[in-house]
Amino acid sequence: MARRTLQMHATLSSLVLILSVLPWSSASLKVDFYKTRCPSAEAIVRRAVNKAVSLNPGIAAGLIRMHFHDCFVRGCDGSVLLESTPGNPSEREHPANNPSLRGFEVIDEAKAEIESECPHTVSCADILAFAARDSATKVGGIKYEVPAGRRDGRVSVRDEASQLPRPTFNAKELITTFQQKGLSADEMVTLSGAHSIGVSHCSSFSDRLYSFNATFPQDPSMDRGFASSLKTKCPARVNDDVDGTVVLEASTPNRLDNVYYTGLRNHRGLLTSDQTLFTSPSTRPMVLTNAKHASIWARKFAKAMVHMGSIDVLTGSQGEIRSRCAFVN
Ligand code: HEM
Ligand SMILES: *[C@@H]1O[C@H](CO)[C@@H](O)[C@H](O)[C@H]1NC(C)=O
Repeated sequence: MARRTLQMHATLSSLVLILSVLPWSSASLKVDFYKTRCPSAEAIVRRAVNKAVSLNPGIAAGLIRMHFHDCFVRGCDGSVLLESTPGNPSEREHPANNPSLRGFEVIDEAKAEIESECPHTVSCADILAFAARDSATKVGGIKYEVPAGRRDGRVSVRDEASQLPRPTFNAKELITTFQQKGLSADEMVTLSGAHSIGVSHCSSFSDRLYSFNATFPQDPSMDRGFASSLKTKCPARVNDDVDGTVVLEASTPNRLDNVYYTGLRNHRGLLTSDQTLFTSPSTRPMVLTNAKHASIWARKFAKAMVHMGSIDVLTGSQGEIRSRCAFVN
């Protein structure tokens, strides 16, 4: 009897062991991960973000986008932060990131301060996840806890950033891209609300103004007056040297809110990938719901950010804790 119990116990614990080795990585991220390891980590990031965003609100947009671009390429492993090495251009060099991605210096500053407080403890991937959250809090009043314990990857490959969704995508293509990362259509629509802040370069949408298709130079799903005003800011390009920027959401460009969805309803989405969410019957109801209910959208946004933040994370003994976020150890 005693032997059987013992045997069963052994079987059970080996089962537990096997289960714990399986890559349910997201399940092992934990809120307050650094509470005992580095109690000041989250406060240091928050201070660095608040300071930078007070000086330039655009940095909040940059950091939220950076976390997204990190998570969609090799998972949230800080690979987007790595600089190129001889012979290996990194994600940072991909046209989706260069020259538009911004906020690197905020991550570097927080990292330096954290390293001096608790060396070799807090990953760059976690710092970026905290910084994205703190940005959403600062410019949107959106608060949520960030499960942490991510480890930093050692690889960053420029061409892998081509997995990122393109601004020319239609709803179907967007849904597929997000589904490939385990995110639902509703989460895709909800996260697109991040385009309530920040800017876009003219080159990301100028086809909508000048070369839509053979019959229509201008995208008929864009409000005429809106298109005219965009044309003054984004003249038909003669060469690639001049690529201006315009705000993604014109009525409250520095406030992370659901006004983005009202804009879509009014045919004032800037990118094809924005306006398609309203044009497409499959996502239009989600746009309308988000436009109508600010607090429901904000809650869903927080939840979707946490979910996005768990994509293919490295945990435990995987990867490393970088000393500097732009370089592997
Ligand atoms: C749905 C698919 C998405 C596409 C196709 C897309 C594409 C783009 C493009 C083309 C820009 C402008 C880049 C430039 O030309 O300067 C941009 C900006 C931005 N995106 Fe997205 N994006 C998507 C989803 C997201 C998600 C999920 C987030 C975050 C949760 C996000 C956050 C941002 C932010 C905050 C900006 C402004 C950045 C700044 O001002 O520095 N985007 N996006
Ligand atoms: C151009 O776009 C319009 C509006 O989406 C569409 O009705 C038309 O068939 C397209 N024309 C061509 C030549 O693709």
